[in-house]
Amino acid sequence: MSSETNSMWGGRFGAGPSAVMREINASIAIDKRLWRQDIAGSRAHVAMLGATGILNAEDVAAIDAGLQQVAAEYEAGGLVEDAALEDIHMHVETRLRAIIGPAAGRLHTARSRNDQVAVDFRLWTKAACAEADAALKGLITALLARAEEHADTIMPGFTHLQVAQPVTLGHHLMAYVEMFGRDRGRFADAAQRMDESPLGAAALAGTSFPIDRQMTASALGFAGPTRNSLDSVSDRDFALEYLAATHMTGLHLSRLAEEIIIWASQPYGFITLPDAWSTGSSIMPQKRNPDAAELVRAKSGAFLAAYTRLSVVMKGLPLAYSKDMQDDKVTVFAAYDDLGLCLAAMTGMMETISFNPAKLRQAANSGFSTATDLADWLVRVAGVPFREAHEITGNCVKAAEAKGSDLNGLTDAELAAIDARITPAVRDVLSVEASVASRTSFGGTAPANVRAAITAARARL
Ligand code: ARG
Repeated sequence: MSSETNSMWGGRFGAGPSAVMREINASIAIDKRLWRQDIAGSRAHVAMLGATGILNAEDVAAIDAGLQQVAAEYEAGGLVEDAALEDIHMHVETRLRAIIGPAAGRLHTARSRNDQVAVDFRLWTKAACAEADAALKGLITALLARAEEHADTIMPGFTHLQVAQPVTLGHHLMAYVEMFGRDRGRFADAAQRMDESPLGAAALAGTSFPIDRQMTASALGFAGPTRNSLDSVSDRDFALEYLAATHMTGLHLSRLAEEIIIWASQPYGFITLPDAWSTGSSIMPQKRNPDAAELVRAKSGAFLAAYTRLSVVMKGLPLAYSKDMQDDKVTVFAAYDDLGLCLAAMTGMMETISFNPAKLRQAANSGFSTATDLADWLVRVAGVPFREAHEITGNCVKAAEAKGSDLNGLTDAELAAIDARITPAVRDVLSVEASVASRTSFGGTAPANVRAAITAARARL
């Protein structure tokens, strides 16, 4: 074998790869993150090779001790990258050989890098799902605390970003508790589906050695082995599902970020971000910018890009493994980093935002936000058909607009002049407090409902 060629696969080659070939082929800068999973996979594999009698006990003990030493070295000093060694699998094995000698070459019996990378990456992605779940739980906990604090705080509810009906801030925040709760479900669901070990699929067709895939699967904490060797080494839908769940979480984070940005803007003045979550301007001394929220909004776009990128890598690949798939990890790792940052930033902002109840209430009272309450009152109390009540209420809005007041600012006489069936008893529903308190239908905004929803959400947590 030429010394130029790769020690892992260079046997049939006369010369080594060109420098550019090395560079395009090397993934170690990215997949070094998998070293813990790679060593765990190898330890499970070698223990199984011993238990099945494929390797003798002496080799197994030497390999396992060597792998533990490699792990200790990486833990202490990090991994020294060598592009000639391509990827994490070759780095670990090469270091193992340096430590224990030629017996290291027996580790790769009944295995291929194709099932090796598949098992490493699944282990990593499963853990990433659990981390996302924990971070989402933290964000939900923060939202619940703020929702409870503001179960009675009145704010405008919007449609088309026009003031529509008054709602409570607690109710608004609880909407995000629902969204992030579904996101947790998506990560949990994806984690459950990827809970199968591809180790033992070997290169693509399985192996003639009498391996025990059940044993390696359970040693690695999987529910069981995958059922088809071709699928095992060529599937990356587990990674795509992780990215899809990330993308959906990103959408929700982005909408909340957008609201924070709008609410912090001076014409709204609904919130103030604390110093810890604001940045200043180098030219305008008064500025207090919601940069973290803006970056959450921006980064959420990268999740869709990541999902699209890996989908496009996968879409035309014939079975089984193709090297295109090596590009899966750079995409997933970047999304993972961004998701962790976004969830941490959003949780931090949520915990510390100060809401301005006076501004929120004032805005809730604008835009004739209790018009629906007046129409509903006409139906409920005066027996007016809803369509007619809508028309009468429209006339009241017109009159209030002309007078420059809100609906409650019209006198009893002015209201009665519009329609004789409007009596002073209507005052019960014209205030924003009365409006909100009356919305007691299941899932509605009444403070009592919001408190019940918070209790129920805490129980689900
Ligand atoms: N570094 C490779 C990857 O991440 C490992 C699998 C290599 N397999 C192969 N047949 N070249 O996909």
